[in-house]
Amino acid sequence: MNRSEIALNDDYEHPDSLEYVLESVLMPSDDSLDFERLADEYNSVLLNQCQCNGACEKSEICPHGGQYEYPKDGIELVLKKFSNPVIECNDLCKCSRNSCSNRLVQYGPRKNLEIFDSPVYGSKGLRTTINIPEGGYICEYAGELLTASEAKRRLKINEELGLMNYVLVLNEYTSETKQQVTIVDPSRRGNIGRYLNHSCQPNCHIAAVRIDCPIPKIGIFAARDILAQEEMCFHYGGEGQYKTLAYGKTCLCAAPNCTGFMPNTAIE
Ligand SMILES: C[S@@+](CC[C@H](N)C(=O)[O-])C[C@H]1O[C@@H](n2cnc3c(N)ncnc32)[C@H](O)[C@@H]1O
Ligand SMILES: [Zn+2]
Ligand SMILES: [Zn+2]
Ligand SMILES: [Zn+2]
Repeated sequence: MNRSEIALNDDYEHPDSLEYVLESVLMPSDDSLDFERLADEYNSVLLNQCQCNGACEKSEICPHGGQYEYPKDGIELVLKKFSNPVIECNDLCKCSRNSCSNRLVQYGPRKNLEIFDSPVYGSKGLRTTINIPEGGYICEYAGELLTASEAKRRLKINEELGLMNYVLVLNEYTSETKQQVTIVDPSRRGNIGRYLNHSCQPNCHIAAVRIDCPIPKIGIFAARDILAQEEMCFHYGGEGQYKTLAYGKTCLCAAPNCTGFMPNTAIE
């Protein structure tokens, strides 16, 4: 394995003794063929380097640029509104780390995030202490990478024991065809992303982001400008290209368009 050696900057910690991981990890879970396939992917490197000597900001010039931009009057790089799945530049690329505008998620979660006791949800949530611009990167939803069978097993246990469910399924589609499924469970090991609750009218959304591994990171981005002290949420059922599914219990989001239920899990 020859992963890029960029230091991911993440000083957050859990309020309890849970294991904090900076990015998603693969733990031995079963000896199925699916697990072998997942391990192969986890240990392989994306060979998609660019040869740019510029800022990699245009997709016509950089093979994987064009999804991030500096908005007018904005100082931070944000995800474009109708972006495609992101492939960031990495250490194998020709471009310079200082001038490249196709690197964001690889530097780690944004600062000024806070885990708090959410009065709306009656459990923990994640909020920001400063304003965030639309498209701004929040953090990765990181945890253990699971095979579908292991995820089903854990979901069943969570449901039977009435435990909180943290399993997230990211289905990537090109038009109607499902391309890749990524399943992350931060219940035992995870990062700050595990505290994001579901809302039927969310202020964040997810995007698949690849850096040097074919398995995407689940990136959380601001869906609109977010004000200081707002709780951040995303729709567990996803929209458009991605679908992320948890299990269907009563939704507490209190949004005017709340459907009353959290999205149902469907792992095929
Ligand atoms: C990824 S965790 C979010 C963080 C969680 N609140 C905590 O205290 O750790 C997902 C769990 O939070 C709760 N949750 C998240 N969004 C919810 C919602 N809209 N309505 C009810 N419960 C929700 C559910 O128990 C769900 O299984
Ligand atoms: Zn480039
Ligand atoms: Zn670049
Ligand atoms: Zn709701």
